[in-house]
Amino acid sequence: MSIDLETRLARFNDLIPSKVPFVEGKLKGHQDRLNYSLVGPGVSEDSKQNVKIAEEHGFNIGAVSAASMNGSGLHSHTTAEVFIIFSGSWRFYWGPDGKEGEVILHKGDVASFPTNMFRGFQNVSDQQALMFVVLGENDPGVITWTPSLLKKAKETGMVLLNDNSLIDLEKNQIPDGKKAIEPITDNELTQFDHYTSEEIEKFVIRYADQKNYFLDDEHYNSNSILNYLDDFTIHNKEFKPYINHKTGFGLTLLEGNNAHIHSYASSKSEVYLCLEGEWEITCNDKKVLIGPRDAFSPPKNSTRSLKNISGDKGSIYIVRQKN
Ligand SMILES: [Fe+2]
Repeated sequence: MSIDLETRLARFNDLIPSKVPFVEGKLKGHQDRLNYSLVGPGVSEDSKQNVKIAEEHGFNIGAVSAASMNGSGLHSHTTAEVFIIFSGSWRFYWGPDGKEGEVILHKGDVASFPTNMFRGFQNVSDQQALMFVVLGENDPGVITWTPSLLKKAKETGMVLLNDNSLIDLEKNQIPDGKKAIEPITDNELTQFDHYTSEEIEKFVIRYADQKNYFLDDEHYNSNSILNYLDDFTIHNKEFKPYINHKTGFGLTLLEGNNAHIHSYASSKSEVYLCLEGEWEITCNDKKVLIGPRDAFSPPKNSTRSLKNISGDKGSIYIVRQKN
């Protein structure tokens, strides 16, 4: 069977973002933000959100691009949420009031946030900034907003309905048979978890921290590997992860001037997400090239290999379905 690799390619420049992806999307500090769905719909509340690759992978991959001092309001997830910074500096803050702690992440940094806690983020650099987000499960469910955020959003006309779709009451009425979701109660608010900055820092891996890298040294010292989540197998060697969250997917960075993985067969879903370089990916004798910000999902059960052909440093994230 011939496979069309183009349908499994998410070239960043071809993606169509949502401009009001979430209920707080008309509020200052949240209004200048674009939301992309590369693999699966994610948790977007925009019923018109374009999804590039709809096939179930066991995880979802999205991206957020925001202007300076813009980002997401405080919300909680029921599945894993892992951030991968591509440009700019992003401040993450958390707790029901957003004041329990903060970390600032830069290019290449990765943070895995626990479920059942409120988190928000903003681009604190001067320029437009980009990050990718991996969410756990085929269906990552819906997010829970803090009551104060839903209240402020309503003042702009934005209401979230019980089918998880958005409506702008300045333009439309709530359709028959649907209703606005109520903010969670004060008692429900107490059921969410709390973390100090030190506790969250354990779930953050800095790109610049060279001590985190391993060398896959049977391959001419060409492969540097940084393994964040789940055991990672490459060339019959296994690497342990730094973060022990049970996300349902693995996340690994492969880096180097001549970085590569020899041909291997897999029945698992995988996505290669390029941070730097130019990567040639071969699937059952067909080839695709991807560059920075592009992602590619090899077809399930295909034999695959990849190599950085830029002649310069290449870095690629590998997201691997666990089950
Ligand atoms: Fe989120």
